[in-house]
Amino acid sequence: MTENKQPTYNPGKGAGEPVGVAILGHGTVGSEVLRLMEENSDAFAHRIGGTLEIKGVAVSDLGKPREGVDPALLTDDAMALINRDDVDIVVEVIGGIDYPRELVLAALRAGKSVVTANKALVAAHADELAAAADAANVDLYFEAAVAAAIPVVGMLRRSLAGDNILRISGIVNGTTNFILDAMESTGATYDDALAEATRLGYAEADPTADVEGHDAASKAAILASLGFHTRVKFDDVHCEGISSITAEDIQAARDAGYVIKLLAICERVTDEQGNESVAASVHPTLVPKEHPLASVNESYNAIFVEAEAAGRLMFYGNGAGGAPTASAVLGDLVGAARNKVHGGRAPGENTYANLPVADFGDVTTRYHIDMEVEDRTGVLAELAAIFAARGISLKTIRQEESGDNARLIVVTHSARESNLAATVEELQKISAVKAVNSVIRLI
Ligand code: NDP
Ligand code: HSE
Repeated sequence: MTENKQPTYNPGKGAGEPVGVAILGHGTVGSEVLRLMEENSDAFAHRIGGTLEIKGVAVSDLGKPREGVDPALLTDDAMALINRDDVDIVVEVIGGIDYPRELVLAALRAGKSVVTANKALVAAHADELAAAADAANVDLYFEAAVAAAIPVVGMLRRSLAGDNILRISGIVNGTTNFILDAMESTGATYDDALAEATRLGYAEADPTADVEGHDAASKAAILASLGFHTRVKFDDVHCEGISSITAEDIQAARDAGYVIKLLAICERVTDEQGNESVAASVHPTLVPKEHPLASVNESYNAIFVEAEAAGRLMFYGNGAGGAPTASAVLGDLVGAARNKVHGGRAPGENTYANLPVADFGDVTTRYHIDMEVEDRTGVLAELAAIFAARGISLKTIRQEESGDNARLIVVTHSARESNLAATVEELQKISAVKAVNSVIRLI
C-alpha cells in the first residue's frame, strides 16, 4: 500500500499574532488578491479566527504605477520577502515555471504554506512540491490553478474523496473558449478574438500556452492526478490546440449542428485484459448544439465529473480573469491561514493508485472527417474499404457538390485513436482524396 504522507499534527501559532502574508506578483491576479484582501480584512479575520497581515508584494518592475498600493509594501526581491521571519504564507501569482519553482520550494522548505494559481508549475513539478510541503508539514494549495473561480480542486480533494472518479471532462481554458465563441457567434477573426482575450486579462503572459492547448493540458494533468490518485504530468497529456481551427471549420460544424470547443478529457481506460490506466488529452472537439457544454460561452469554463456513486456532476463558472481567480486564491489563503492559527493541514497529495498512463493510441473516440474527393463512381466504396480495413464503422456520410469534386463529411463510430489516425493518414495518400480539410473529434 502506498502511504499518503500526512506528517505529525501541526499545533498552530494561535490567534495572538497576525498571520504574515507575502504576495508574489501584482498583475491581473495579484492586484485583485491584494485589493480583495484589503477590502475584506475584517471579514477574513472572523472567518480565520485571527488576522492576516500583508508583509510585502513582490513585482518585477518597481517603477510601474500601481494605484492604491502602499509603496512600502513593494519589493523586487521575492526571495528576500519569502525568507522574512514574519511571513507565514506565500501567495505565488507570478507565472512561469523555473523561477516560481525556486520561490515556492524555498518557501515550503522554510516552513511557509504556499497558495499558487500556477498550473504550469503544479503540472510540471507536483511531486517535488508535495514532498517539500509534506517534509515541512505545511500546506500547498492550488485551487485557482484549474478553472479559476470554479472550486473543482477542493471538490476532488475533499467532497469526492469517498467516491471513485470515472471521467472528468470539460472546458478548462477561458481564452480559447472566448476565441471559439467569438468566432462562432460574432464572426470575429481568430487574431481579433485573441487580442481581446489578452486585453481582458484571460490569456497567459505568452498566449501560445492557451491557443496551443498547453494551459488546458496542465489543468488536465492536475485534474487527472487528483481524480485518479495517480501522478499525471503535463508531458503525459496528449495536446492539440485551436490555432489550426478556421472560420470554415466553424461554419462546417454549425451546418452539421455542432459547435467546436477545446475540451480536456481525463478518463480511466480498461483494456481487454481488464488492466486499468489513465488517459488525459486536450483537443478541439465537436459538441452537439443541444449538449450543455455547447452553451458555455465567453471565458466561462465547465467541468463534468462522472463518479461511481455520485453519478454525473457539472461545475460551471468563471474560468479566467483577475477577480474570479483571486476568489479561488483567497479561499485557499483563508484555509491556509486557519491552519496556521489553529493547527492542522489541508488534505495533501495522494497518488496511491499509481495507475499507468495510457498510450493515447489506445483511447477510443469518434471522428468527424471533412474531405474533398473525386466525384466518380466507386470512390465511396474505395473509402469505405479503407475504414473497414481498420475495423472502423461509419455512422453517417454526407456528400455535397464542390466544384469538380465532391465534399464528403464522414462521422465514425467509436474506434481506437491509433486506428483512426492511421486511416486518415491512408486517406491522405490515395488519389481519390484531393484534400482532407479537417479531422475533429466528436464528444
Ligand atoms: P501577469 O503577467 O498579469 O502578472 C505577473 C506578475 O508577476 C506581475 O505583477 C509581474 O510584475 C510579476 N513578476 C514577474 N516576474 C517577476 C519576478 N521575477 N519577481 C517578482 N514579480 C515578478 O500574470 P497573471 O496575474 O495573469 O497570472 C499569474 C499566475 O496566475 C499565472 O501562473 C497564471 O497562469 C495564473 N492564473 C491566471 C489567470 C488569469 O485569468 N489571468 C487565471 C488562473 C490562473 P510587474 O507587475 O512588475 O510586471
Ligand atoms: N489563461 C487561462 C485561461 C487563465 O484562459 O483559462 C485561467 O487559468
